[in-house]
Amino acid sequence: MTRSIQTVAPVKRKTPKPSTRSAIEPFIVMDVMRAAADREHAGERVVHMEVGQPGAPAPKAVIAAAQAALADGRIGYTEALGIRRLRSRIAEHYAEAHGIDVPMERIAVTTGSSAGFNLAFLAAFDPGDRIAITAPGYPAYRNLAAALGLEVVEMPVNSDTRYVLTPAMLEKAHADKPLAGVLVASPANPSGTLMEPHALKALIEAAESLGIQFISDEIYHRLIYAGTAATALQFSGDAIVVNSFSKYYCMTGWRVGWMVVPEPLLRPVERIAQNLYISAPDISQRAAIAAFDATAELDLVKAEYAANRRLLLNRLPAIGFEELFPPDGAFYVYASVRRFSNDSVEFTRRMLAEAGVAATPGPDFDRTRGHGFVRFSFAGTEAEMAEGMDRLAAWLK
Ligand SMILES: Cc1ncc(COP(=O)(O)O)c(C=O)c1O
Repeated sequence: MTRSIQTVAPVKRKTPKPSTRSAIEPFIVMDVMRAAADREHAGERVVHMEVGQPGAPAPKAVIAAAQAALADGRIGYTEALGIRRLRSRIAEHYAEAHGIDVPMERIAVTTGSSAGFNLAFLAAFDPGDRIAITAPGYPAYRNLAAALGLEVVEMPVNSDTRYVLTPAMLEKAHADKPLAGVLVASPANPSGTLMEPHALKALIEAAESLGIQFISDEIYHRLIYAGTAATALQFSGDAIVVNSFSKYYCMTGWRVGWMVVPEPLLRPVERIAQNLYISAPDISQRAAIAAFDATAELDLVKAEYAANRRLLLNRLPAIGFEELFPPDGAFYVYASVRRFSNDSVEFTRRMLAEAGVAATPGPDFDRTRGHGFVRFSFAGTEAEMAEGMDRLAAWLK
């Protein structure tokens, strides 16, 4: 028997009508990723330097733990704050890496750090609250905060001050109009800048003395090429810390991360997580426990990033990219394209179409000054990065 397929034509009326708050900017890197996928679908080769996604697979022990979870058969919901074995393993990690005691009760496992920002913003702030972030900075902070009705205060930073937000800048913005929160990433995206422990401590103290909630994005913590990363937890029991298994642990698609939450915000975070997504994926949580013991394997991947970093810092200036800030950590180089163009959106579109190299235009990170910049991710393999540089050199010669 053939089934007839009914086509439902949209009714010409004013609904469905998107909400005002959904009118946020796209996460441009994801749009570039889609354009690159369209080209690959059409059979073209693309070198991926747009997205901050490790070229390496998850550690072997993580995959084995996921396979064991699958063999066990029952993949369920978990407690909203995450499975206890993972929460206590994360707590142990703070003792091992930083010598600090973080009770496992303060750890919330999340669906990547992306959910962590959502939970932090919803638990700590009300619509209309002002939140300071750096520009350039990670785009989702700005776009997500805007969708939640927060007022985003972009603080311009540049290579003169190592892209770091200073206490003086924070105090000035707060004096202009009170801030409810400040969010910084160290190492940062796209600059890769690391706040030295004393700089982080000073910023946290400045924020807390003004009653400003400090949020620390520590997702690139174990990807550092120079200097030492301190966690905000070393200086404050009131900071919200957001972290993830996506980057150092090579687990982007597993969608699992964590937060360390100050005690008064714990139950609010739990209530919101319960209602927002119930729990992070059970299988990913069970597998992530093994990630902390895969340091030998993951440090080899990190060594490859270090080689990629050297390659880009060497070859990009020779090709004509300028004002490169040597990143202390993460896996990005933010570079000026002014020698070639004042419109990096158009420039990266042509770069993809004509050179087959995908990179992210600066306006994703900085709406005001980003038109002269491009971010290259060097998270891929050494062979891919070398191919990307050869393609760019040939295209721009
Ligand atoms: C600074 C920063 N924070 C957070 C994220 C989000 O990562 P995830 O949601 O995969 O943990 C990214 C991803 O690129 C990032 O660069």
